[in-house]
Amino acid sequence: MAATTIESVLQENRIFTPAEAFVRQANVSGMDAYRRLCAEAEKDFPGFWGRLAREHVLWKKPFTQVLDESKAPFFRWFADGELNASYNCLDRHLETQPEKTAIIFEADDGKVTRITYRELHRRVCMFANGLKARGVKRGERVVIYMPMSIEAVVAMQACARIGAIHSVVFGGFSAKSLQERIIDAGAIAVLTADGQFRGGREIPLKAAVDEAIAMGGCESIATVVVYRRSGSPVAWQAGRDVWMHDLMAGQPETCEPEWVGAEHPLFILYTSGSTGKPKGVQHSTGGYLLWMILTMKWVFDHKPGDIFWCTADVGWVTGHSYVCYGPLACGATEVIFEGVPVYPDAGRFWKMIQDHKVTVFYTAPTAIRSLIKAGGELPKHYDLSSLRILGTVGEPINPEAWMWYHETVGRGRCPIVDTWWQTETGGLMISPLPGATPTKPGSATFPLPGIFADIVDETGHPVGKGKGGMLVITRPWPAMLRTIWGDPERFRKTYYPADFQGKYYLAGDGASYDEDGYIRIIGRIDDVLNVSGHRLGTMEIESALVANPIVAEAAVVGRPDDLTGEAICAFVVLKQARPGTEDAARIVKDLQDWVGREIGPIAKPRDIRFGENLPKTRSGKIMRRLLRSIARDEEIRQDVSTLENPAILQQLSEKAR
Ligand code: WT7
Repeated sequence: MAATTIESVLQENRIFTPAEAFVRQANVSGMDAYRRLCAEAEKDFPGFWGRLAREHVLWKKPFTQVLDESKAPFFRWFADGELNASYNCLDRHLETQPEKTAIIFEADDGKVTRITYRELHRRVCMFANGLKARGVKRGERVVIYMPMSIEAVVAMQACARIGAIHSVVFGGFSAKSLQERIIDAGAIAVLTADGQFRGGREIPLKAAVDEAIAMGGCESIATVVVYRRSGSPVAWQAGRDVWMHDLMAGQPETCEPEWVGAEHPLFILYTSGSTGKPKGVQHSTGGYLLWMILTMKWVFDHKPGDIFWCTADVGWVTGHSYVCYGPLACGATEVIFEGVPVYPDAGRFWKMIQDHKVTVFYTAPTAIRSLIKAGGELPKHYDLSSLRILGTVGEPINPEAWMWYHETVGRGRCPIVDTWWQTETGGLMISPLPGATPTKPGSATFPLPGIFADIVDETGHPVGKGKGGMLVITRPWPAMLRTIWGDPERFRKTYYPADFQGKYYLAGDGASYDEDGYIRIIGRIDDVLNVSGHRLGTMEIESALVANPIVAEAAVVGRPDDLTGEAICAFVVLKQARPGTEDAARIVKDLQDWVGREIGPIAKPRDIRFGENLPKTRSGKIMRRLLRSIARDEEIRQDVSTLENPAILQQLSEKAR
């Protein structure tokens, strides 16, 4: 563990208090209401969660025990209760609001498709029946590699309906990454599309699935279901491959949900850690669903008339929680967008908010920063008066971007919820409540009711106000990950390290309290990078580089970047002589493309620098702090006396062009 005690340096004095009218209508109205909920959780922890789980989730069989801590840190919530996630998202609305629009889908080219709860339910049932006909059963793993679409939500909900465990792989990941995830999960089916459209370009998906399976080790895959999106020709393996519309044709329009125990895994989602191998984060059904509903109501202040838009891809946890499960479980109308924010121009988001009268808008700081750069005045040309809440997630938001979001998008009227959470936490953890919490730009403020977070030093002691340290969660929570798929030991070691006697969940983030106790997230303290809100392990990128036949050794670090938060910087030692200027440019391009194929385009290093060696300590450890300074073009202040060959510092400082 990194021994860092970070002093809080930034003092933010601007405070934004929610407007009286907003407070009055809010689901959690005012700080006192927030404090009452926190106090209830403090006073009777199981009582608090038990009450909420009974009030908000529909149970087929009620639970008798709220929390089982006997096998901590493998906590179990509502374990003897039975339910179905898809029933909670769809069937519960069939009597009350069947004709309400569930999803407004806007395609890359602007074409809009709407689907009601009744129709969504019908399609999920038909698809679920189709999957069953192909032998997909409860507990089986299904990989989903699909574009943003109504069909992707149908696919996820259909898995949930039959108790199959979905593992969505982001469409921007390469065939190689897809293959690794198929193998690790032991999936028996892949659900994909012929292609997807982003920014006017078609990106093939089925071809990557074929390539992944052809790489070997995927013999468990008996079925590949293909949603026809682009109509472009695809290779076909008879028997294995089936069109989504053919699979659904003639299937019964209802499908009895598979009632599962609350602890039944709803999904696995792979995310990067500090080793070369991504972790299959495993989530539960009951606790997860409860937290999606509560955070929708508390943080997004969900109301029946809302048009909710979370811009995240279903390939990330944000898309699972606030596209697929949270909004539907609350009976919301939500927007799903296929394309990218800058196509056909940087006004796309604002036009969509105007056209669909979006009320709650949730996006990432990197998108905000890129839209400021591409057209900071553009929001002024659109009618954004429908907006009432703005949210951000994925990385720290710099105060300037926060202020722009507040003034130019929200016109000073909309509370901003800066929500801190992780793939592992399932849902929001630290966030303002829009009708209660006075906000400060750049701060995620306070933990939500029932969430016990703290900032501690290396010995596990709380650092207190005005200080920084490591962010931990000191009590379990219903939506927490249950384990790492197939690797419980890694789960325990990573998240409940012995450093804190296995008592605290270690988030892997550095954070600080200001003098008022507001939490500011600083960033990862492990070897994980955050590039445009996407999590990437430095080890993963290093392994990908070293897998190239010309590379002998590689070290990857992040450096701050105005647009993407962090940029990937790689230091590479080749098996051949250190390249001269002309060769270097070509090799850089080759290696970037290589990493793109190994992991995905998001992992391509921005800078690659070559040295005859890497700076190492006497014990052979790469001096990463030194590399970070070099990547930032900073003056080197560390002690370099132990370096074998100081000349390599000069080499590594030279950028290849
Ligand atoms: C990491 C988790 C949670 C969905 C998207 C990312 C960073 C997340 C914030 C925020 C500062 C944030 C953290 C965290 N992060 N939200 N509001 N302020 N940092 O999920 O890929 O699991 O990444 O994203 O570093 O650990 P993820």
